[in-house]
Amino acid sequence: MRILSGIQPSGELHIGNYLGAIKNWIKLQNEKNECWFFVADYHSLTENYNPKEKSKEILNLATDLLALGLDPKKSTIFQQSQIESHANLAWIFNTLVRMSELERMTQYKDKASIQKENVNIGLFGYPILMAADILIYKADAVPVGEDQIQHLELTRDIAHRFNEKFGQTFPEPKSLLTETPRIMSLLDPTKKMSKSGGEKSYIALTDFPEIIQEKIKSAVSDTGGGKDKRGGENLLEIFNAFAETKNGQSEYSNYKRYHEEGTLKYAEFKPALAELISNYFADYRAKRAELLENPDFVKNVLTEGNKKTSAIAEATLQEVKQKLGLII
Ligand code: ADP
Ligand code: TRP
Repeated sequence: MRILSGIQPSGELHIGNYLGAIKNWIKLQNEKNECWFFVADYHSLTENYNPKEKSKEILNLATDLLALGLDPKKSTIFQQSQIESHANLAWIFNTLVRMSELERMTQYKDKASIQKENVNIGLFGYPILMAADILIYKADAVPVGEDQIQHLELTRDIAHRFNEKFGQTFPEPKSLLTETPRIMSLLDPTKKMSKSGGEKSYIALTDFPEIIQEKIKSAVSDTGGGKDKRGGENLLEIFNAFAETKNGQSEYSNYKRYHEEGTLKYAEFKPALAELISNYFADYRAKRAELLENPDFVKNVLTEGNKKTSAIAEATLQEVKQKLGLII
């Protein structure tokens, strides 16, 4: 299968990003698929940002992806803005999508309500650039978290529409979800964990063990006198996702049973959960520290990835231009 996915360089990665998407990227890569992963820096311009920080954010994200286990020998890792044909194809797709389709997009509505003073056209057209990112490589499958499913549906609609109008060109790519496609905020279990929820609402992958302990300690568990169990369930789901050993799995089964019976002792469970997460990311923290000493290596990975990618993307763009009658 040809796998493709991207992630925006806008702030630090959290365990929602990892459990919903990146963990799957690494698994798919190691299962010998043809994998393409990229830093979606053009998408990140649709949010408020500081141009002095952007290049650092791009490099930091690439560093994180490598430290988590993406391997440039197995996957092509590149930078979206350096492959000019993505935005070109997005322009063509702009003419195939109605405004009403974009107005329905949940992520657009959410983000527009957060950045009321900056509801820019890029934010509105975000899913179209995303469709171009995917279709330009004729990807078969896209590993993402649940919040991106609506964008993938639009991508399939665009592919279908294009094929009907101009002849078979694009496969209709499917989304690939993990077992934890939607991790909830530590402070509000009705909202998805997200950078925009504030520092205490998520665990960043770079958080030190003491910080993880503090954040888990203040995480909302069961509320309403134990009637609303969603906070506790979210914490249990996180435990389950990180408990990979047999021992960890049996601990999880016990905690889960106590939770169902209403006898779970959070004073025991929470520190155990925090320790589990800290240990899980110990290797990542060490690898990341090493890579930060060697930014040229990381830059080089992206440059090589860009080189490999541009010719393929350009070929699809030419094929599309040909089908539209633009080549004279
Ligand atoms: P954020 O909402 O924190 O800005 P992004 O939009 O950058 O996160 O998401 C990057 C990737 O991580 C996407 O594939 C997205 O679906 C996934 N993802 C984000 N938040 C979560 C979450 N809470 N649970 C599972 N997956 C998530
Ligand atoms: N929209 C994705 C997110 O918020 C990032 C993204 C951009 C993406 N282009 C993509 C994901 C193409 C998968 C495929 O995380």
